[in-house]
Amino acid sequence: MSSLPNPLDHRTADHPIEEIFLKRWSPRAMSGEAVSESDLMTLFEAARWAPSTYNEQEWRFLYATRDSEHWATFFGLLMDANQAWCKHAGVLIVGLSCKSFARNGKPNPVHSLDCGMAVQNLLLQGAAMNLVCHPMAGFDRGKTRVALSVPEDVEVEVMIAVGKPGDPSSLPEGYQDMDQKPTGRKPLSETIAFGPYSF
Ligand SMILES: Cc1cc2nc3c(=O)[nH]c(=O)nc-3n(C[C@H](O)[C@H](O)[C@H](O)COP(=O)(O)O)c2cc1C
Repeated sequence: MSSLPNPLDHRTADHPIEEIFLKRWSPRAMSGEAVSESDLMTLFEAARWAPSTYNEQEWRFLYATRDSEHWATFFGLLMDANQAWCKHAGVLIVGLSCKSFARNGKPNPVHSLDCGMAVQNLLLQGAAMNLVCHPMAGFDRGKTRVALSVPEDVEVEVMIAVGKPGDPSSLPEGYQDMDQKPTGRKPLSETIAFGPYSF
């Protein structure tokens, strides 16, 4: 039984927005239960409908389920600090993006942005399904390229841990507090400007 807090009890928007944006957060406590194939495909389906330049859909996702032969390889890519809590994930995903346009081979300046759009779709879908979906930069990109045969023209972008919510008290010390209080945000005044750059 999870005792992760409800982010809606901790977060308030300064302007009216859809609840799902506040509900999505990145806790670390997972139960170690498997994530069903159908739930996983629903996450990828959400990612599939992300916008992209010229509808390029240049994101690519590799994944390993915890009971599969690929788990140890994916898990081994993570930095120690992420391994400490990802050991209870049900799925590990690696997000990639193709750096050149499929139709003409020219460099695509927004491949990472488009991949990020797809990742956010996945994260929001996961939040709607009450799954933990936690993006991570803390992994070895070079090792990932080699271990997962990622070609040169494909960028290694992100890993995502997916799992059923767990109990924060099962986390190593130092991680427990972070799962008790969902993060807040800077005020809009620090991130938007009318006209030229003026921060
Ligand atoms: C691209 C990216 C990389 C991240 N890398 C890590 C990571 O390696 N380890 C980790 O515990 N959290 C990681 N996070 C989670 C952030 O710390 C988290 O999103 C941020 O603190 C805001 O909190 P929230 O997602 O709960 O709203 C990452 C998030 C993003 C978007």
